[in-house]
Amino acid sequence: MKSLIQKLVEIVSPSGFESTIREAVRLEIAPLADEMSVDPMGNLIARMGPPTGYTIMLAAHVDEIGLMVTHVDENGFARFVPIGGVSSRTCIGGRVRFLNGAAGVIGVERQADASKLPAIDQLYIDLGVDSRKDCPVRTGDVAAFDRPFLDLGKRLVSKAMDDRIGAAVLVETMRRVKPLAATLPHQLVFVFSVQEEVGLRGATTAAFGIHPDLGLAVDVTDCGDTPKGIKMDVSLGKGPAIKVRDSFMISDPRVVRWMIGAAEKAHLPYQLEVLERGGTDASAIQLSQAGAPAGCLSIPSRYIHSPSEMVDYDDVQNAVHLLAALLTQSVDLKQYE
Ligand code: CO
Ligand code: ZN
Repeated sequence: MKSLIQKLVEIVSPSGFESTIREAVRLEIAPLADEMSVDPMGNLIARMGPPTGYTIMLAAHVDEIGLMVTHVDENGFARFVPIGGVSSRTCIGGRVRFLNGAAGVIGVERQADASKLPAIDQLYIDLGVDSRKDCPVRTGDVAAFDRPFLDLGKRLVSKAMDDRIGAAVLVETMRRVKPLAATLPHQLVFVFSVQEEVGLRGATTAAFGIHPDLGLAVDVTDCGDTPKGIKMDVSLGKGPAIKVRDSFMISDPRVVRWMIGAAEKAHLPYQLEVLERGGTDASAIQLSQAGAPAGCLSIPSRYIHSPSEMVDYDDVQNAVHLLAALLTQSVDLKQYE
């Protein structure tokens, strides 16, 4: 699965510009899906299983945070706005790669007070040119952070674990479920969603169109196991996390019980997640149309929204095991009331 992860995380596809990553995922799942489509927002939607029982929507977003050029000055320096949650803390000295292949480094204006974090509009991209006419990018061009995938053995690091790791987990889950697809007691709808980082936009319209009976997002969550880090009961390597709450959603308790039950029955490690700040596509599913029971399987991750997001390979594989166990059994949420 590591080569699939590397392939997906190294693609440059910030929010709103997901065509490259969508095509890469489409090639992976073409032999697995019963039916595939791309909706008007650009979500890739793949169905598996007969149209009976529940319609279960699984969502992982394929966009990533990035930057968009606001203007290039006479000397060729490009100013930018963030796409999604980008902090100047992780920008300075970083490298970026544009959709057209152009690359640059991020510099910062001289700071009067070096103890304060500079504002994003005090940063600029230096593309190695001296004039606007030589600059290979212009207003509206977008870039993602440029870092190669790093395999530390048990721990994997990338600029875009959020949420290409979720996409890799869904692809791998489809592979696992495929032999049973014809006899599934429900229909699975896998959504590789767009524009999550700018406000869950793709999942919002996808969920409206799919109208699921049950929805799960697969996305990263924070960890509380780094030196003097946030206080949170989630660590790397202790299993995927079943979301109980984040700042956008209280998971449906029946869905949480269903997930815990499946993990315990399959003897898989899991953690319970209460995230103070942040949200996922699951909240868009929960609030779509008249509402839907929703939950989220989270991949514990350190340094989210930095160019070096770290996950644990065992957690990733256990997430696939747990999803495969959940999705191949019949589901009746009444049992979990
Ligand atoms: Co994110
Ligand atoms: Zn995410």
